[in-house]
Amino acid sequence: MYQYVIHGGKPLVGEVAISGAKNAAVAILPAALLVNGVCRIENVPQISDVTLVLEILQELGADVRSVNSNTVEICCSHIHNFRVPDSLSRRMRASYYFIGSLLSRFGKAEVSMPGGCDLGVRPIDLHIKGFRALGAQVNVQGGFVYATAPGGKLTGATVYMDQVSVGATMNVMMAAVLADGLTVIENAAKEPHVVDLANFLNSMGADIMGAGTDVIKIRGVEKLRGGTYSIIPDQIEAGTYMAAVASAGGNVLIRNVIPKHLDCITAKLAEMGVQVEEEGDCVRVMRTGKLHRTNIKTMPYPGFPTDMQAQMSAVLCTAEGTSTIDEGIWDNRFRYVDEFKRMGARIQVSGKLAVIEGVPYLTGAPLRACDLRAGAAMVIAGLAAHGTTTIECIHYIERGYENLVGKLKGIGADIELVDAKEPVSLRDSQVG
Ligand code: EPZ
Repeated sequence: MYQYVIHGGKPLVGEVAISGAKNAAVAILPAALLVNGVCRIENVPQISDVTLVLEILQELGADVRSVNSNTVEICCSHIHNFRVPDSLSRRMRASYYFIGSLLSRFGKAEVSMPGGCDLGVRPIDLHIKGFRALGAQVNVQGGFVYATAPGGKLTGATVYMDQVSVGATMNVMMAAVLADGLTVIENAAKEPHVVDLANFLNSMGADIMGAGTDVIKIRGVEKLRGGTYSIIPDQIEAGTYMAAVASAGGNVLIRNVIPKHLDCITAKLAEMGVQVEEEGDCVRVMRTGKLHRTNIKTMPYPGFPTDMQAQMSAVLCTAEGTSTIDEGIWDNRFRYVDEFKRMGARIQVSGKLAVIEGVPYLTGAPLRACDLRAGAAMVIAGLAAHGTTTIECIHYIERGYENLVGKLKGIGADIELVDAKEPVSLRDSQVG
């Protein structure tokens, strides 16, 4: 088993380029099922969740060709299978997008209940409510979702989301693009990846308006045609590097970003005494002075993203004063706190609220990642800590960060991927 070994305490300096957005890619790739012809998709991040989506597409009968490390061509003309097996679906939450895409194009889908990071209860009732509103018959039996469209086609309808849901908004959007008539999604999610999926589908001939607002209108079309599309940069990957610089200190130019998507993260870092400057499609992040306390509440976009909560918590561990983090989306997203406490962090969690009392520094410790963003947060904590941090269960982190070790080394971090069987150097572990 591989682990990360980080010798912390070195400021980060240089440039890092951000990859394509994970949460856009894991929706756009299944959406290729909706298209007649070849989809060429660029800026696809090389992460294990993407590998899994491509595996599922192949299992269904799609032709998938890697043009280069970040470009794939997908042709779904010979789909012969409408079932996503448990062995694949359980490994990733986003497998739910195969329900909407298969149902829309082929009128039937059998998808094992999706897995994904353990962040508390993760139902898909809103997805199912949306499919049913469009006329689908949906049964959940023996751990599988069975969905069929009577007569092979769905019918447009108004779908009100009882709660803002990224996945349900995008899934109903996919289901609606080939339906008869108009679908209106009310109380829709507005995340950048929702807009990216709509842009992808529109570029292939769909008729979607309003993505990025509360109300999305989708007029069904006969069919979508092939084409080329490039995925947007990853808001959360960019935010993770911003947090790393805030935590470890230094001066880094983060390239290939959409600065607007980072506004909420930039605003919080500025409150904490971190300088963030926009330079075209880059942001420069600088921190030399002390970190100040702040309060964060996670909310749907354009609010502060829950997927940046753990990383900001890592930064706040060493900010002066007492900070709070209020998790507004998931029931159980503080499972990393006990790991931070091993490093000397002072954090009290009560339900969905964490109170962080800043300490002068963290001390390296052996840690275990418990989900994707928690794992990234542990890397950030390790980069700033005195001494050596080891992080196990890095497969969680590899789900969502392309070449994390290489990119961090490129900005001066002392991080290695090592085989856990080899003894870990403790050269700095007693510092502080
Ligand atoms: C997406 O998950 C992301 N995953 C998550 O990112 C992210 O944390 C989340 O959106 C919120 O931004 C992907 O895009 C693959 P939701 P999703 O439906 O779609 C409740 C990461 O680290 N809800 O917006 O599953 C739900 O319980 C991952 O990259 C229902 O009640 O999230 C939650 O409280 C982790 N019924 C809230 O809505 C439903 O049918 C928002 O969930 C669906 C959701």
